[in-house]
Amino acid sequence: MSNVLVDGETEVYGIIGYPVRHSKSPQFQTAAFQALGINAVYLPFQVRPEDLQKAINGIKALSIKGINVTVPHKEEVIKYLDEISEEVEYIGACNTIKNIDGYLQGFNTDAYGFIEGLKELTPDFADKEFLVIGAGGASRAVVYGLIKSGVQKIILANRTVKKAEEIVSDFKKLNRFIEEIIEVIPLNQIENHLKEVDIIVNTTSIGLKDEDPPLFDYSKIEKRHIIVDIIYKKTKLLQAAEEKGCLYQDGLPMLLYQGAKAFEIWTGQRAPIEVMREILSK
Ligand code: ATR
Repeated sequence: MSNVLVDGETEVYGIIGYPVRHSKSPQFQTAAFQALGINAVYLPFQVRPEDLQKAINGIKALSIKGINVTVPHKEEVIKYLDEISEEVEYIGACNTIKNIDGYLQGFNTDAYGFIEGLKELTPDFADKEFLVIGAGGASRAVVYGLIKSGVQKIILANRTVKKAEEIVSDFKKLNRFIEEIIEVIPLNQIENHLKEVDIIVNTTSIGLKDEDPPLFDYSKIEKRHIIVDIIYKKTKLLQAAEEKGCLYQDGLPMLLYQGAKAFEIWTGQRAPIEVMREILSK
């Protein structure tokens, strides 16, 4: 890779989060700019929750062209934006900001990222039945993407049932048949529904730590199940999927495609997917 040439015209992009050190975005976004010969850098900015508003003002004052937003700011940041996309409205979280001369547009590219990743795993997913585990921001992005893609059956399992029910009521405007499409169940009922579903998606943080308990009895997974865990590593769920011979995917494709979409929003150019994938796979 060539050296980054920074000069007086270099545009600045970045990511705000707390913590942000673990983020893979600076590497793959910078590689994408370089691959297309765009004079820009992408930097990590660690922003404490109490400093979020100041950071947003800083984006405007410093003419930072685009920002990704990660935990814990994705929801809080919305109130500082001038305009939000339909995705942000439904998902309730923003991961991408475009700064047009101080006017901040908010986007959520996670739903797109999830769906593009899923297409790589199983292109004919739309007529399948889904089990989605979790009802936080990540789940909302996944469910939004599935509904927009025409999926007709989603079993939505969460420890706190009320949070899953809120997704159903918040998505009523998106699809008037939502109550028929989404069936909410408590986490401890998952095993009773495994026979019905084809694709299982974990959107919770369970599995991130090796000592995390399983979400359900993974010995009940069948070879025909297709399994996605949006965590960026081979979790116990994915290990079980592998042992059963299932088709499975971790969170890297979603990360890749959400980043690619952010890049396209900022630059108006097609993202160099393979360059970005190569960096992520290291
Ligand atoms: P994100 O934005 O990444 O989705 P979040 O909004 O905090 O994060 O949501 C976390 C999800 O993981 C929720 O579905 C949460 O379940 P609850 O709604 O019941 O809190 C789930 N989760 C986190 N810790 C959990 C645990 N120990 N057991 C079961 N589910 C858990």
